[in-house]
Amino acid sequence: MRKFAWVFLVIIVAALLLGACAAQTTAPATTSASSNPSAVADGKTLLDTRCTSCHSTAKVVTQHLTSDQWKQVVDNMISRGATLSADEETVLVQYLADNFK
Ligand code: HEC
Repeated sequence: MRKFAWVFLVIIVAALLLGACAAQTTAPATTSASSNPSAVADGKTLLDTRCTSCHSTAKVVTQHLTSDQWKQVVDNMISRGATLSADEETVLVQYLADNFK
């Protein structure tokens, strides 16, 4: 009887551990997938919200630049007062380089 209770206990503990591991392996995947888009807006939104306080987007979208040149322009704009985090700058430069080249 005692032995049976031990085996039963071990099985329950093993099941709980397995459940915890399964929850841990799936958790990062779901949180990163759902938090990334909300952490950094898409390039178009960044352009519309961060680049329009001093001039219209016309000044931007009429340019045809390479990725390196867009990086320089955006760095220049940040030094003038545009607010972008490093991650946001990466997303915006990528968007500009893809759409206005
Ligand atoms: C703090 C004000 C300000 C913000 C915010 C701003 N800009 Fe500018 N931008 C300027 C000024 C001033 C000029 C004109 C510079 C000149 O004529 O030398 C300019 C000019 C430009 C030009 C024309 C090319 C050039 O270098 O003159 C581009 C392209 C440009 N900005 C892109 C952007 C982008 C992309 C953003 C968003 C990240 C942005 N700007 C945000 C002030 C700003």
